[in-house]
Amino acid sequence: MTWDELKSSCESCKRCPLGETRTKLVFGTGNREAKLMFVGEAPGGEEDKTGIPFVGAAGKLFDKYLEAVGIDRNEVYIANILKCRPPQNRDPLPEEQDVCIDYLREQVRLIKPKMIVCLGRISAMRLISPDYRITKEHGKWVKKGQYDMTAVYHPSLLLRDASRRDEMLADMIEVARRYNEIK
Ligand code: URA
Repeated sequence: MTWDELKSSCESCKRCPLGETRTKLVFGTGNREAKLMFVGEAPGGEEDKTGIPFVGAAGKLFDKYLEAVGIDRNEVYIANILKCRPPQNRDPLPEEQDVCIDYLREQVRLIKPKMIVCLGRISAMRLISPDYRITKEHGKWVKKGQYDMTAVYHPSLLLRDASRRDEMLADMIEVARRYNEIK
């Protein structure tokens, strides 16, 4: 599948009802040849309006971490498990994830990143392990197939709980250190 084919199948997707309630598809953004990919959970309100992942309050905080550790947002690729916003920003349902994950898989197949960083619990449970415990396991690295993977706290958690920001910075410093080795 090409990028154009993938995007148009996402645009016309009827695999779950979220395509009917969303404003814009949030397909993913960044460098299609990125070595590093970040995967969040699902679009929120600002993302739904703009069609771009991580542009709301959580996204602005995430940008600060990228800047702090010297990762250029345009160099990496950013996507979510879900491409459409769940109403009231509720957690993505397992059945929504089950049908939407194929699109993310196809994005990963096209990009062929070396490193994948999950943003938050939902993404880590889906991409690393169903019993992933973010508070215990964030910042640990695993090799899954050809990908080096880790998870860090979701930036929206850090908006609610600033006490975890130092751990997030340490995890992101390690992401940048590894990224600088391979880029
Ligand atoms: N939270 C996410 O997980 N993804 C976004 O794109 C925005 C907020």
